[in-house]
Amino acid sequence: MDNASQPFDPCIVCPVTGQPLFRDDGTLKTADDTKSYVDDDGFYRLFVSEEGSDATTGEVLDFYTETPFPNYNDFDDVATFVQRAERSVFAKMLRKEVPMNARVLEVGCGTGQMSNYLAATTPSHVYAADLTPASLRLGIDFARGNGIEGITFMQMNLFRPCIKRRAWTSSSPTVSFTTPTTPKRPSCPSRPWSSRVDIS
Ligand SMILES: C[S@@+](CC[C@H](N)C(=O)[O-])C[C@H]1O[C@@H](n2cnc3c(N)ncnc32)[C@H](O)[C@@H]1O
Repeated sequence: MDNASQPFDPCIVCPVTGQPLFRDDGTLKTADDTKSYVDDDGFYRLFVSEEGSDATTGEVLDFYTETPFPNYNDFDDVATFVQRAERSVFAKMLRKEVPMNARVLEVGCGTGQMSNYLAATTPSHVYAADLTPASLRLGIDFARGNGIEGITFMQMNLFRPCIKRRAWTSSSPTVSFTTPTTPKRPSCPSRPWSSRVDIS
């Protein structure tokens, strides 16, 4: 295992057992080697299904796999992307609230536009989590293509999070928000999610 004594990231844990994860040749593993999660060229597949909700999660996954949106086609580069993002009052306000060295967590980041925007414009580390690999891929490609650093993408089920308990309520500056609002389309399966923004 690489750096056997150092967890890969103190905020990210095994979504099943809550144990720390260690990098080992393209995978993340628990120290006892009982659970492992693949690095899929830029994001970790930390998705674990939730008993009893597989059908709905599967429908949501199918929907966004077919139509990952919003895409990045309108942006030639990071400058036009940031310019467009700043038309949103919410994005601008959020950006201004992110303290130095904050850890930002976006759950249900989709293609990661907000996460990429915050990673590009704030001195923070952003964790961008979503269920849908096709969406994450668009976000990763944009980040890589535009030299956006300080962002970790991961495939995660918000009902089985790989987030260490209390990692976002410690004394270090943290921001977390949840944005899996489902579009009002009859074809899109929905769940009663609430949107939440915490800045502590
Ligand atoms: C309406 S999109 C919002 C995407 C992004 N936050 C935005 O504003 O562009 C909702 C996102 O929630 C994700 N999602 C749905 N169920 C999820 C789950 N159980 N765990 C993690 N993400 C989920 C979907 O994959 C989708 O990308």
